[in-house]
Amino acid sequence: MIDKIKEHITEVEKFNADTKEAIETFRIKYLGKKGLLNEFFAEFKNVPNDQKKAFGQAINTLKLAANEKVNLLKETLDSQTEEVGKYGDLTRPGEAMALGSRHPISIVKNQIIEIFSRIGFNVSEGPEIEDDWHNFTALNLPEYHPARDMQDTFFIQTDPDILLRTHTSSVQVRYMENNKPPIRTISPGRVYRNEAISARSHCFFHQVEGLYIDKDVSFADLKQTLQIFTTELFGKSKIRLRPSYFPFTEPSAEVDVYWGLKTESDYKITKGTGWLEIGGCGMVDPNVLTNCGIDPEIYSGFAFGVGIDRIAMLLHQITDIRLLSENDVRFLDQFKSTL
Ligand code: DAH
Repeated sequence: MIDKIKEHITEVEKFNADTKEAIETFRIKYLGKKGLLNEFFAEFKNVPNDQKKAFGQAINTLKLAANEKVNLLKETLDSQTEEVGKYGDLTRPGEAMALGSRHPISIVKNQIIEIFSRIGFNVSEGPEIEDDWHNFTALNLPEYHPARDMQDTFFIQTDPDILLRTHTSSVQVRYMENNKPPIRTISPGRVYRNEAISARSHCFFHQVEGLYIDKDVSFADLKQTLQIFTTELFGKSKIRLRPSYFPFTEPSAEVDVYWGLKTESDYKITKGTGWLEIGGCGMVDPNVLTNCGIDPEIYSGFAFGVGIDRIAMLLHQITDIRLLSENDVRFLDQFKSTL
């Protein structure tokens, strides 16, 4: 009889289960009302007196072992269920990460970079916090020049020499100071002007500056380059260079693209003229070349500046420039499918 109990002790110690039901069956088998332990206890009176002590000890060991086993298995199971409660089903498939989208400004900027890279232009950048020399003086806009008022500038209060650049033309100067002709570069970037914010204008926006300096560069080269640009970007090759004034170019022109007058929206965006202004351009003023260490007797060149925000708004029918900086995901999400 004692041997039988010992066998049960070993069995109890070996036992394992990971469901509530299996543990309960085990508990009933040993500790239930009609369980083995009670059976053994009932046998107790039939055991000869000299074996009673050993028998009693064996049943108690079995009882302890069975109790301990049940408690241990229950605890283990509980702790596992708790984990599931906390983290959910750990075997479930992961959640897909939501992909972001490129900002329309970046999309258009990259398109412009791509077009110009095909005709030999590299990309250059300059600082947004600029000094007076690079933003104004070197560009033929000395102190007290009235044309400085064309651009409402944000100055740093403690130092009138430091400002937020009002145009990317400042990068022209930096590039010419640091590189020798031939130069073919475009400089995309953010610019700042102290203007009231509305649907049509903002106190910061984006431009791409273009600069081409070499021997014998002519106004015809400028027009051709701009024509390639508008054809590639808008699918429109008809452009018009309207005489204008910029201190850093001579002669200077405003660049208009013929948008057409086919739809109501064409009428709206071109104010009924069919023409749309996209930027300024001209032959780099000899004074600017001299200021940047390039001999105007040997070299000539052209420059142009176009607004990226304006183009992004045109290409994507965005009617309020403020949307471009408000970071509303409902707006930004719409550009997911665009490269
Ligand atoms: N910097 C001018 C502006 O912000 C745009 C511009 C006009 C740039 C003529 C040029 C240029 O390079 O040649 O209004």
